[in-house]
Amino acid sequence: MSEIELLDQIENQLKSLSDSADQDIKNTKKEGDLEILRVSLLGKKGKLSNILKNMSKLEAKDRPKIGQKANILKTNLLEAISDRKNQLLNYALELKIANEKLDVTIPSTGTPKGNQHPLLSTQDEIIDIFCGLGYSVANGPEIESDFYNFESLNIPKNHPARDMQDTFYLNDNLLLRTHTSPVQIRYLKDNPPPTRIISPGRVYRRDAVDATHSPVFNQVEVLCIDEGINFSHLRGTVLTFLKTFFGDLPIRFRASYFPFTEPSAEVDVQWKGKWLEVMGCGMVDPMVLNRMGIDSEKWTGFAAGLGVERFCMVRHQIDDIRRFYTNDLRFLKQF
Ligand code: DAH
Repeated sequence: MSEIELLDQIENQLKSLSDSADQDIKNTKKEGDLEILRVSLLGKKGKLSNILKNMSKLEAKDRPKIGQKANILKTNLLEAISDRKNQLLNYALELKIANEKLDVTIPSTGTPKGNQHPLLSTQDEIIDIFCGLGYSVANGPEIESDFYNFESLNIPKNHPARDMQDTFYLNDNLLLRTHTSPVQIRYLKDNPPPTRIISPGRVYRRDAVDATHSPVFNQVEVLCIDEGINFSHLRGTVLTFLKTFFGDLPIRFRASYFPFTEPSAEVDVQWKGKWLEVMGCGMVDPMVLNRMGIDSEKWTGFAAGLGVERFCMVRHQIDDIRRFYTNDLRFLKQF
């Protein structure tokens, strides 16, 4: 083959590669296929390399001409591949957007509305009544030390009252509080009397679960300390509270015993013909005040503790404490 013919042949081959490659690029439908096509056109063993194999047979003067054409072809093809790639990515994006189209005219199915748990609304009601009587809310930790939960409240180790409150211990010193009474002491530690606080919160006891017992339940603690506070203030406050909450149910005070109050009482309300205990209370034992550095000659006070579950059960005629904790929507939706 003469030099002219060979040159001609190579140029024609480049031209036809350019045409067919352009077409192939346009016909590619997947981004991944473009890479395969690029390798088959421009790779080491690709079509372009194949054509250029014959370059060595050309005279030196003609080689740069072909080299230049091959370079232009290569640049053009790379550009075409990159354009096609962008085009395919755009198509894919448009398709995705089209499929995700939001029809804002479809009628809504409505947002299901939750409501407050009956225990919480009962607790709120109790808080409201005491706030109306001039009390404010104080909080304390659920993980408590032996000192605050027992010692400071006149319940030393081996005191029989510890048996009444079977305790979850975390270690020798820490426990899950068995009542909200430790908040009395925590509050007095930082706030000198006069004192009018309530403290709602969860308490824990190692009780087996049944219709009236749960290892976790809720109490509200009440503490009032001032000069000249006596048992009639306690009685008046408790009666006012119970009447506001229950209306006109019969109420009675029964002498009782708590290590941190003297005298102590339990309060019952008559419900469904039976006396039901709803709270413990008493005059704060002077020993408790003295231990906190409060002069018990000057300051006296009363305290009370009530179980929120009891109040809620009476209010809503609920027969089983377990209903509060099992999250049965049929139950919860009634409130
Ligand atoms: N802390 C007692 C209990 O959980 C309840 C109680 C009784 C609280 C008398 C008081 C109180 O503040 O004065 O069994």
